Amino acid sequence: MVEVVRASADLREVVSEYIPLKKSGLRFRALCPFHTEKTPSFYVDADKQLFYCFGCGAGGDVFKFLMLYEKLEFPEALRLLAARGGIEVPTAGAPANSDRQKVLGVNRKAHAFFREQLKGPAGAAARAYLETRGLTAGTIERFAIGYALDGWTGMKSHLVRAIGGSARDAEALAVLAGLLARKEETGRTYDRFRDRVIFPINDLAGDVVGFGGRILGEGEPKYLNSPETPAFSKGENLYGLPFAREAIRSEGYAVLVEGYMDVIALHQAGVSQAVGALGTGFTAGHVRLLKRYTDRVVVNFDPDAAGRAAARRSLDVLLENGFEVQVVALPAGQDPDLFVRTEGIEAYRERLRAAPPYIEYLTREVASRVDLGTSKGKVEALNEVLPFLARIDNPVRRAGHVEMLASVFRIEDRLVLQALGEAVRVAGLGVVGFWVVARR
Ligand code: GTP
Ligand code: MN
Repeated sequence: MVEVVRASADLREVVSEYIPLKKSGLRFRALCPFHTEKTPSFYVDADKQLFYCFGCGAGGDVFKFLMLYEKLEFPEALRLLAARGGIEVPTAGAPANSDRQKVLGVNRKAHAFFREQLKGPAGAAARAYLETRGLTAGTIERFAIGYALDGWTGMKSHLVRAIGGSARDAEALAVLAGLLARKEETGRTYDRFRDRVIFPINDLAGDVVGFGGRILGEGEPKYLNSPETPAFSKGENLYGLPFAREAIRSEGYAVLVEGYMDVIALHQAGVSQAVGALGTGFTAGHVRLLKRYTDRVVVNFDPDAAGRAAARRSLDVLLENGFEVQVVALPAGQDPDLFVRTEGIEAYRERLRAAPPYIEYLTREVASRVDLGTSKGKVEALNEVLPFLARIDNPVRRAGHVEMLASVFRIEDRLVLQALGEAVRVAGLGVVGFWVVARR
């Protein structure tokens, strides 16, 4: 299987989809994408189907190139190349008839049907809705958006036909994929997604692992996601990452937002480094995904109270994993999608540029709800912020924040520094030497 896929992909062609290659003797040459250099020392040997960089020593075959460039594991690189060559491969490590593989197959069929319905007569209202949300035809195509029919059996009939075999088995498989739900009492199955715009969720190998469905207009629940299935777990997928990874790499950071529409609107406006955590907080699984591409994140969550709590938890996860985090806070009631549409993309880019480091955001947030007029309040405020400041391992960067902290909390620099020193000593325990402040 590996050899079939390898033979389907010419290394020179694959490489030149990423970087420009110049003919040089019998080989092809380029600036190495794996280290910084001014003169090209990266070579592709088309006969041997191998690449090598004399500068940094990176080298290997077409799989190795993709693994290094796209930050993929081998099975993912295999699947990516296979998809490019139109070859079906089972997910590595799992047999072709694994539940995951079966679910992916059903998802593919369902996704094609969703897309067809959006384009057909039944999709008129959904198309109109997407237009009111400002999505262009190109965006709808790129994000492969679809529509789930109104009614209880549109998808069911389609899948029973498309999967084939016994209807019972087909339904069971569609239930496993989360596309049908089953009524407890009667055992009958029905379409999970009804009269909703459908956003497919892709993994890095390009498979549709799950779906998000939005109601057209007002109603509850606003969004309905695929349940956890053998192919899908909310905490293991970031919406938009397959579309964002190139921009995350070139911009050097990711923009983390909350909703499907936020991701899509930002990409449409040209901020292609945006990804979404889809209503869950940021998880360890998300960290693993994002770490492949960057360790800098600008988070942009809804600034309302609920959003703030979720933002805090997500921020903790990011900070604990060594991400450099900046925070964009939009005016109340705004989310990235709305903001871009009302204020324009340049205003949004300005917000990105001006996004303060997390510690500064937190300091101002604490200052806005703690009474800094009393020394008790100051102690409380310092105690909230110092543990985070102490966690920044670069002492110069850490010290740089002290002045800001002192001025926002109206405490002398000297005292903040003393308390910080104490906090660094006990970092991890969450205890801070606030006696310093209390003694004033
Ligand atoms: P729009 O109203 O379409 O702009 O959605 P939004 O993305 O701005 O929605 P919101 O800020 O309310 O929610 C953010 C994200 O949380 C959504 O994109 C969903 O992933 C998730 N979410 C929101 N509402 C629901 C819900 O009712 N159920 C579930 N499961 N998830 C939801
Ligand atoms: Mn929104």
